[in-house]
Amino acid sequence: MKQLFIFVCSFAIILMTGSALVSAIEKQDELSLPTGTMTLTAPEHSQTKMSPVVFPHSLHLKFSCKSCHHEWDLESPVKGCASSGCHEKLWASPPEDKPSGERKIKSLTGAYHKACRDCHRSQLKEQKTKNKQKTAGTATMSEGSGPVTCEACHPETHAAIVNSLDTLPIPLGTLTLTAPEGVEPKRPSVTFPHSGHFDYTCQTCHHEWDGKSPVQNCTVSGCHDQLESAEKTRNINDPKNSKYFLAAYHKACIQCHRSLLKQRDRLEKSGVLDDNILPEYGPVACVECHFEN
Ligand code: HEC
Ligand code: HEC
Ligand code: HEC
Ligand code: HEC
Ligand code: HEC
Ligand code: HEC
Repeated sequence: MKQLFIFVCSFAIILMTGSALVSAIEKQDELSLPTGTMTLTAPEHSQTKMSPVVFPHSLHLKFSCKSCHHEWDLESPVKGCASSGCHEKLWASPPEDKPSGERKIKSLTGAYHKACRDCHRSQLKEQKTKNKQKTAGTATMSEGSGPVTCEACHPETHAAIVNSLDTLPIPLGTLTLTAPEGVEPKRPSVTFPHSGHFDYTCQTCHHEWDGKSPVQNCTVSGCHDQLESAEKTRNINDPKNSKYFLAAYHKACIQCHRSLLKQRDRLEKSGVLDDNILPEYGPVACVECHFEN
């Protein structure tokens, strides 16, 4: 009896550590995305003239992550801008101190000003053109452009350093996409490399996401929750099918892959053969997405 008890206990321990291991592995496949506001400061111990800069990260998540995290491989943890080997120096060294032949890396100040201010400037320009195009000039600016003046980013009175700790867990790696409950699947489920698609903005697929709330499943109630196609038509472009889950997935996934393939074909026909220029594309044939594992 005692032996059986020990056996059961050790079995339970194996089970427990086993499941702990699994969740540890799963944790690595997740990214903690800061969704609040952070304050950008110069590295510690540097002499500064200006106030720290308040940066609402979540307001910027409609852009591709890579528009700022340009060295991110879409899988590893995201490094801070001033990390070793990146924009470590607050200011560029004078030209005579620059080691020749080494890769040029912008100073932190230069990098931030270029990334932040240049985008705000071009947004402002774009909006001005748009507003001019709108008749009579009565249209109000529908969207902000972000600050472009010194004081707008570095206010006279030093702002308190706030860093909201809000984060959202984002699944990295591959996801298995299955038909929603209540559907008898005719095809095998789809292995979808989620982070492999982070070159695109998140809203390319999560088109209703605001950059801070939890991301909804595609098939939640009120979204693409229709389990059957509209009468007589399975056409993915028919608006009647916009809530039909199959049409929504196929429209999002296959249309992009197909248009990239078309673009590639067109370029190849015009004589471009360089793989660095030709766009990559995803699967377009049924069995390339729906295959038995
Ligand atoms: C879009 C926002 C933005 C605008 C506009 C902007 N900066 Fe900055 N600036 C930053 C960020 C971000 C940093 C790096 C973080 C930090 O040092 O606080 C920085 C750093 C600096 C630094 C180095 C750190 C320090 O405090 O000495 C100086 C100097 C500076 N900016 C001056 C200016 C001046 C002058 C202007 C206007 C001509 C300007 N900035 C406009 C965002 C901006
Ligand atoms: C407009 C620029 C911009 C965009 C777009 C952007 N980020 Fe950031 N992100 C930043 C800045 C600036 C920081 C602060 C970096 C630092 O402290 O050096 C940051 C910080 C982070 C951090 C924390 C890094 C750390 O040091 O712990 C993560 C994680 C992150 N971003 C992920 C993302 C992801 C994922 C996306 C795309 C959904 C994204 N970001 C889009 C500018 C941006
Ligand atoms: C790719 C373009 C882009 C980049 C890069 C970018 N911004 Fe912005 N930023 C915007 C746009 C667009 C808005 C207006 C957003 C809105 O109102 O919804 C904005 C808004 C802001 C605002 C105002 C938020 C508010 O409450 O009105 C601040 C502050 C700001 N950005 C700071 C920064 C800083 C600091 C950086 C660099 C780390 C940066 N931005 C990089 C496009 C950009
Ligand atoms: C780019 C990937 C992709 C391609 C290519 C693709 N599908 Fe799908 N398909 C999906 C996804 C994602 C779903 C939704 C998840 C699921 O049901 O497995 C789906 C769902 C389905 C469903 C509904 C669920 C089921 O199993 O009954 C059918 C039927 C289907 N696809 C048939 C096809 C056929 C036929 C083709 C070729 C003409 C095709 N798919 C091509 C990605 C793809
Ligand atoms: C090419 C399309 C695509 C892109 C781009 C994309 N995702 Fe996803 N994402 C999906 C699909 C499909 C799912 C699975 C949804 C489902 O199960 O219904 C998913 C799932 C998620 C989930 C889990 C939702 C849940 O059910 O808990 C989160 C969080 C998420 N994505 C965040 C992001 C963020 C943040 C970005 C931008 C860095 C992003 N995604 C880019 C297609 C995409
Ligand atoms: C906006 C364009 C776009 C959308 C939307 C998109 N993809 Fe892709 N997909 C790509 C590109 C580009 C590649 C090739 C990238 C690569 O191989 O690195 C790709 C590659 C793939 C691959 C092959 C990956 C490999 O390792 O060979 C699969 C599977 C895939 N996509 C499935 C999907 C599914 C399922 C969806 C819908 C939920 C989807 N994609 C939506 C652009 C897109």
